[in-house]
Amino acid sequence: MAKLIAPSILSADFANLENEVKAIAAAGADWVHVDVMDGHFVPNLTIGIPVVAALKKVSTLPLDVHLMIEKPERYIEQFIKAGSDYLTIHVESSNDPAACLYEIKKWGAKAGITLRPKTPLSEIESLLKICDLVLVMTVEPGFGGQAFMKDQVDKIDKLVELRKLQSHKFLIEVDGGVSDQTVSFLGNADVLVAGNYIFRNNYKTAIQNLKK
Ligand code: DX5
Ligand code: ZN
Repeated sequence: MAKLIAPSILSADFANLENEVKAIAAAGADWVHVDVMDGHFVPNLTIGIPVVAALKKVSTLPLDVHLMIEKPERYIEQFIKAGSDYLTIHVESSNDPAACLYEIKKWGAKAGITLRPKTPLSEIESLLKICDLVLVMTVEPGFGGQAFMKDQVDKIDKLVELRKLQSHKFLIEVDGGVSDQTVSFLGNADVLVAGNYIFRNNYKTAIQNLKK
């Protein structure tokens, strides 16, 4: 399967989101990655439900919403009604991540699980059978523009192995420090998120470089 590219609008011009989303679509992006942060689970605040709803009105691409918030179960229904196509939660953020994933599916979205770099893969193994997407973080969640953590690539390879062994169907997505300099480590990933690399360069060229 050709790689899917999901530009992270965290690095886009927030005063101009409609044009940014249209520009990445025209440049060949496949999904729009939306980083939701609550100032508790991560030390940064970004955007919430009304912005997802506004993006939905102007985006021809699926919205891939990455929740970095405590107790995501409080907001799953609202994020999906606002237009999230994929909704990903952090395993560390809820006491019952399995219930969250089932709830996401119940409201008609694709369910994603993710984990902090320090969290071992064993923490999500029992959830893989429920997931449509597994997101491997290659930076500490919270900010764009950080350096790629190469030691996380093992998780991608292990997920490929588990997926085959246990006949799962989830997509493997990678988020953090993805660029033309790091993409060579990501041959086993299905979806690449990139913020700074795409929005600080020519969008079309950057997306093409990641798809190569
Ligand atoms: C970090 C976010 C990422 C971030 C990636 O918490 O989840 O999606 O925007 O930004 P870059 O590609 O600049 O590392
Ligand atoms: Zn993200």
